[in-house]
Amino acid sequence: MKLLSVFGTRPEAIKMGPLVHALAHTPGIESQVCITGQHRAMLDQVMDLFGIRPDHDLDLMVSNQTLNGLCARLVSTLDELYARVQPDRVLVHGDTTTAMAAALAAFHRRIPVGHVEAGLRTGDLQRPWPEEMNRRFVDVVSDLLFAPTASAAANLAAENLGGRVLVTGNTVIDALAQTVRRLDADLGLRALLDAQFPYLAEGRKLVLVTGHRRESFGQGFENICRALAALAQRDDVDIVYPVHLNPNVQGPVYAHLGGLANLHLVPPQDYLGFVRLMQRAHVVLTDSGGVQEEAPALGRRVLVMREVTERPEAVEAGAVRLVGTGVDSILAEVAAACDAPLRPAAFDPHASPYGDGRACERIAAALLGQPVAAFAPAAPSPSLSPVATAC
Ligand code: UD1
Ligand code: UDP
Repeated sequence: MKLLSVFGTRPEAIKMGPLVHALAHTPGIESQVCITGQHRAMLDQVMDLFGIRPDHDLDLMVSNQTLNGLCARLVSTLDELYARVQPDRVLVHGDTTTAMAAALAAFHRRIPVGHVEAGLRTGDLQRPWPEEMNRRFVDVVSDLLFAPTASAAANLAAENLGGRVLVTGNTVIDALAQTVRRLDADLGLRALLDAQFPYLAEGRKLVLVTGHRRESFGQGFENICRALAALAQRDDVDIVYPVHLNPNVQGPVYAHLGGLANLHLVPPQDYLGFVRLMQRAHVVLTDSGGVQEEAPALGRRVLVMREVTERPEAVEAGAVRLVGTGVDSILAEVAAACDAPLRPAAFDPHASPYGDGRACERIAAALLGQPVAAFAPAAPSPSLSPVATAC
């Protein structure tokens, strides 16, 4: 079976990296990889880390790209590629413009689509925007739907979609498990990564921040910046914020937050470095999808700067809190979480509601038509115990 995996952004590469590796070693599958380059710099960092050599690199990113411009370039370029490669199946991931366009182009050529990380929903097309629409679209045209959790599978069942649904766990836990093993085994590597942040002293509290959601551009980002500037008034915290390369993020963040002594704006970190920062963090403040899955598995307190999430499991377990994008709520929640005692950075793949590190193995077996036992999470461990609350 000739399988073409198509992806183009940082989170897709992190979550497809271990799968592509597994597929390359699966007899009966001829695995090819196409990267669209939707994220040029942030994608290349991850490709190097997972040792992925793309068979096709479309290099489509342009600075400050519009969604329609990117989408048009993706559909026409992928159409030509599909005509040339003639894959038996296209595999896409998640909810990006790359995933949606790759699925659309495959549908138009009547090539079956497999969707990794199917079925996540907020129920609100505006949040996350445009990702909720992208994900729903890909699910509609896919005949193999790899749902990470039982609740994602239930979303698909409720929509009565035609494809075959399998609960596999999320491949992000496979990626995280491999990365943590590497960090655990290599003291020198950890020291090298830590040396990049000489200002992070023992005893001070690290608040790790990421933020890039399009629905927060404008007022939402202004609020996030004001809350961070106020938090930086505390003399017991260090804030590290790897700033996403989108100019609509870079602009307000550097304009509002440059020049504060304990607020460190840094470039996007490669995955090893970012996992190490999550391990060291007292609190993780984010609007990212992937970080909502990873940080609880590392025992970290996670505050999510969104009104709704398509990843309800860790919220229900009490390990993640939605704090919205209001200045007061962000500030109050981060302050409460900073005042709570530091948790040990324990990684237990069996404690995560999102996966057990075997998602790639299940997906590879399912692609070959072999029987697959669904992922079922174990009971939550103490590392998933509730985050401190502001009230
Ligand atoms: C995209 C995805 C979002 C995903 C996020 C992960 C869509 C609609 N959005 O949003 O779902 O959560 O990636 O980060 O697919 N840029 C660079 N270098 C890079 C990456 C981005 O310079 O390596 C800049 C470019 O100017 C680019 C801009 O960021 O035009 C926006 O990138 P784009 O992929 O369109 O949107 P994201 O906000 O990153
Ligand atoms: N990440 C990273 N370096 C960073 C920030 C994030 O490697 O500086 C990783 C993070 O661990 C997660 C993924 O990137 O796996 C999340 O990407 P992003 O927030 O861009 O997208 P989303 O998950 O919201 O789609």
